[in-house]
Amino acid sequence: MKYINEANLKGKKVLVRLDLNVPLKDGKIQDDSRIKAALPTIKYLIEQGAKLILCSHLGKPKGKVVPELSLKPVAKRLSELLGKEVKLAPGVVGEEVEKLVEGLKDGDVLLLENLRFHPGETKNDPEFSKQLAKLADVYVSDGFGVVHRAHASVVGVPSLIKEKYAGFLIKKEVEYLQDALKSPQRPFVLISGGAKISTKIGVINNLISKVDRIIIGGAMANTFRKAQGYPVGRSLVEDDFLDEAKKILAKAKELKKSLYLPIDYVMGESPDAKNPLGTFPYQDIDENGMILDTGPATHVLFSEVLKDAKTVVWNGPMGAFENPAFSQGSFGLAQSVAAVDGLVIVGGGDTDSLVHKCNIQDKVSFISSGGGSFLEFLEGKELPGLKALED
Ligand code: 3PG
Repeated sequence: MKYINEANLKGKKVLVRLDLNVPLKDGKIQDDSRIKAALPTIKYLIEQGAKLILCSHLGKPKGKVVPELSLKPVAKRLSELLGKEVKLAPGVVGEEVEKLVEGLKDGDVLLLENLRFHPGETKNDPEFSKQLAKLADVYVSDGFGVVHRAHASVVGVPSLIKEKYAGFLIKKEVEYLQDALKSPQRPFVLISGGAKISTKIGVINNLISKVDRIIIGGAMANTFRKAQGYPVGRSLVEDDFLDEAKKILAKAKELKKSLYLPIDYVMGESPDAKNPLGTFPYQDIDENGMILDTGPATHVLFSEVLKDAKTVVWNGPMGAFENPAFSQGSFGLAQSVAAVDGLVIVGGGDTDSLVHKCNIQDKVSFISSGGGSFLEFLEGKELPGLKALED
């Protein structure tokens, strides 16, 4: 894979695929981290005198123009952050867009409208790829959050443009994640939390032989406890995955890896209950309640597991942390992670917001900008958007 710092881009029209899929509420950006993460590449290209044609998706408009999902607020925020005008094109492709591209001067920045307004984007339609590709001389990919999607702007376009590079965000993501997995300092601890085992099973299966210890928390731990024959009350469980959970427990034993599950829980009537029902040991729970957080004994256990860690990869909270009644397990774990003296990599939307809520973002080594792509990278899957840059 080649990176933009190896390129001579002066005067060239550069199509830059970014992940500017920011959370919006009433037309306002709730978190501009993804825009900020794209800045180093954008600024570098401006300094190099390239003509920038930026593109991204926003939400899931399913091939139709949905005005609420226009990239207009993103163009505005980008202009503020760059201190220069970022013009928003009236569409994704077509004559009007081509005219705007022709009018670009060196260092100018144009943002195309939401790629997913066009039905060809998610279908990786060759005709749409052609229309996009003809806008530019060079293709740059820097949307790590979308490299797991085989969409037109991610794989179709780079198959049509000869000169292609990855930007600085992808460089950083790949370097951090590859380093952690290739030659980790030990002990190497994987922390897997969140609601569903089904979305994390691939990561655990791929990493179980590489890590030394695995911490499992969040509702996905319920499936493991149920698989062991313990009660889980009315808690979230994925019954279809009981066998998978058993297999992972057996594999950990066979490979002599330590796998830690919560040993006590904070339970509640429901995730939005005002007060918890109390704290219960895992063998003896309130059968009418739901497991919604890890308890204080678990906090001590998980802190011990992390104490001498030299590499930590963390995805997923320990419970329903958005509700203060069920936040202490996740907050406590965040503090233990922050205290680790080693490489700490965090990924996934919920974990990212948890890290910011606990204000430990400066105490971790790297927060991946990817959600699904972060998980798929850890699963060891080939990511189509990275492969497309290698051809
Ligand atoms: C994300 O938010 O994880 C990326 O922008 C990818 O979005 P998608 O899941 O809608 O493809």
